Amino acid sequence: MLGQDVVRAARFVNHEVTALDRDALDVTNERAVRRAIARERPAAVVNCAAYTAVDAAEDERDAATRLNAEAAGIVAAAAAEVGSCVVYPSTDYVFDGTGDRPYVESDEPSPRTVYGQTKLAGEAECAASNPRHFLVRTSWLFGTGGRNFVETMLDIGARDGSVLVVRDQVGCPTWTGHLAAGIVRLLDTDGYGLHHMSAQGQCSWYDFAVAIFEAAGVECSVLSTTTAEFDRPAPRPAYSVLGTQWQDAIHLPDWEVGLRGYLEDRA
Ligand SMILES: NC(=O)c1ccc[n+]([C@@H]2O[C@H](COP(=O)([O-])OP(=O)(O)OC[C@H]3O[C@@H](n4cnc5c(N)ncnc54)[C@H](OP(=O)(O)O)[C@@H]3O)[C@@H](O)[C@H]2O)c1
Repeated sequence: MLGQDVVRAARFVNHEVTALDRDALDVTNERAVRRAIARERPAAVVNCAAYTAVDAAEDERDAATRLNAEAAGIVAAAAAEVGSCVVYPSTDYVFDGTGDRPYVESDEPSPRTVYGQTKLAGEAECAASNPRHFLVRTSWLFGTGGRNFVETMLDIGARDGSVLVVRDQVGCPTWTGHLAAGIVRLLDTDGYGLHHMSAQGQCSWYDFAVAIFEAAGVECSVLSTTTAEFDRPAPRPAYSVLGTQWQDAIHLPDWEVGLRGYLEDRA
């Protein structure tokens, strides 16, 4: 999802972009990564490859570690070799979700899932391998490049006319179109380090579902449930709103603006 929108956002501001999908470059293959980056000698590398199956990761720690942590170091080091900066997108799942005010960059991470642990390890690998790194934590992504919560809701709405959604998890749904533009703007700065970058505002998954049906003009009754009743292999953070301490932070638009942007984009 994010990779496709980063390509679009970078081309939109006239950057020359080489986009490599998994078939073109396996980021866990160190030789191939070094060869590709040495060939292109880019000014910046945005590493959007990741193991993102949060529940499956609980049983696949090695695969998640290889992709989210080790490959993050491989890509960052190869970028450093040609003097290129690197972006490593990370996640709100590095926090345990027990907070009650937006998490900022100096807050201590404490991931409760394998996915969150491997992403936190990836942040460290990336930072250790390339001094010119941007670690960009974001949350609840939706975009036209892949399956996402908005599509799941619209599918269920069309099929069943009613949907059950958790009300006690609160976060920032973020459209990859907005995040990608934010990342591309970040590349024009020398603000290396850790950044929290999510949409403005906050809501529960329940609120998000209601907004999706309203914005899409779809009749669907949204019923609420709790995390305790909706058991999943990987525990979700109850509260994972991200805030930032950067004085000159790049602020993304509100999540509802992102939702409308997404619905226009998919139309
Ligand atoms: N989705 C979210 O809600 C969310 C929230 C916070 C942070 N993030 C972070 O944001 C970033 C982008 O997430 P996303 O949702 O856009 O991810 P995504 O849609 O799952 O995309 C991940 C991509 O990585 C590719 N990939 C897998 N293994 C690879 C390999 N060995 N070499 C090269 N590419 C490989 C996948 O290819 P295939 O499709 O062919 O497997 C896929 O295109 C990730 O770092 C993620 O951790 C995501």
